[in-house]
Amino acid sequence: MKVLVIGSGGREHALVWKIAQSPRVSGIFCAPGNAGIESLARCVPIAADDIAGLKAFALSEQIDLTVVGPEGALALGIADEFRRAKLRIFGPTRGAAQIEASKSFAKELMVRARIPTAASRTFEVLDQALAYLEHHPLPVVVKADGLAQGKGVVVAATREQAREAVTDMLGKQSFGAAGRRVVIEEFLDGEEVTIMAFTDGKAVVPMVAAQDHKRVGDGDTGPNTGGMGAYAPAPVATPALRSEVVQRVLRPAVEALLQVGSPFYGVLYAGLMIVRGRPYVLEFNARFGDPETQVVLPLLKTDLVDVMEAVVEHRLDQLEVEWHDRAAVCVVLTSAGYPGSYDTGRPIRGLADLSPSTSPSFSDDTLVFHAGTKRDGNEVVTAGGRVLGVTGVGPRWTEASERAYKAVRAISFDGCHFRTDIAARALRSGA
Ligand SMILES: Nc1ncnc2c1ncn2[C@@H]1O[C@H](COP(=O)(O)OP(=O)(O)O)[C@@H](O)[C@H]1O
Ligand SMILES: [Mg+2]
Repeated sequence: MKVLVIGSGGREHALVWKIAQSPRVSGIFCAPGNAGIESLARCVPIAADDIAGLKAFALSEQIDLTVVGPEGALALGIADEFRRAKLRIFGPTRGAAQIEASKSFAKELMVRARIPTAASRTFEVLDQALAYLEHHPLPVVVKADGLAQGKGVVVAATREQAREAVTDMLGKQSFGAAGRRVVIEEFLDGEEVTIMAFTDGKAVVPMVAAQDHKRVGDGDTGPNTGGMGAYAPAPVATPALRSEVVQRVLRPAVEALLQVGSPFYGVLYAGLMIVRGRPYVLEFNARFGDPETQVVLPLLKTDLVDVMEAVVEHRLDQLEVEWHDRAAVCVVLTSAGYPGSYDTGRPIRGLADLSPSTSPSFSDDTLVFHAGTKRDGNEVVTAGGRVLGVTGVGPRWTEASERAYKAVRAISFDGCHFRTDIAARALRSGA
């Protein structure tokens, strides 16, 4: 079968790498892809949100399965459009993707389904939001309703910061349509963890839990980023916690979407805060996480294409999804200045021996997933803030972490930055 993956980051490289291992796949395409994906798939220069262009390509190439990486295309309704054209696609409809694309929609759904989450209120009128803030305990969390590429959430320590955040969103419209509505919610203090699940609208199959590192600097310091690294399976997610998340969060969310006539097909991502041992939802995403995917997929034993087909054909309950009993650590290499402004076009050295193989075994325990890279003549150069995600896999945390950092140190480009403490928490757990 022929598969098309949409997107151009580390998540999509990991997806392409995993899909390439399936003996059932005869051709892989990626739109638009990057310099690393090129070695495994034919990259086609169609933007991830060009739905008409993607549909025309899928029809003309007779693509059997399309897999959507980024949320933007889902929120624009790519899945609806493909289904209307009788094209098989892995990803939720626009209606179901609202669970990510509108934080107020997600909040209402959670309240209705009694899913544990921070208490919140939604506002569209600036004065009402400001008045509400005056009596809210601090810290308080202010969230733009719509998609804001990870920049729409302010955890305000002071009332002044909170006022500024809502004024930016509702008054100055700095976030455009995404900030026409804001969610103001209670601050939750705990440890964050991600649990993603495959779902076909009814059955829910959780993946191994992952922990992301959002802050740019060691020890969780500095500004938030798209993610500086991740590890899986996160020890904080004990088997009991995972089953609680399935019973109290994932299943009720999938059922609630079914009830409102928007069944969810694809990957449902729960971003959770663990407070005194209990999970609370911070947000849902409607797709694979990045960089979480770069540590979760290397641990998946079952053929990913089999899982995706079972989702698309609504028979996920008949498939047993298996995982390797191993640890994975991903370290993200970024351009100097990121998440602020940064330069691109810097040649990357040391990649030659480190490209991910398509080998389905674990003979290759070091995987280099490209995020912001581009080919420039014979060179691979930087083309984004997050440049590479280097994943080490091993029987325990020490080996996984050593493998990742050994490869990281073999790669260099001008201004390369990475955190040196990815998975430190897991290493301390002693497993
Ligand atoms: N209620 C909350 N209490 C504490 N921290 C929060 C809360 N909501 C969000 N955060 C922090 O802000 C980050 C981003 O919020 P999230 O809802 O995941 O939005 P997005 O990923 O769309 O930016 C979270 O990863 C978490 O660190
Ligand atoms: Mg988030």
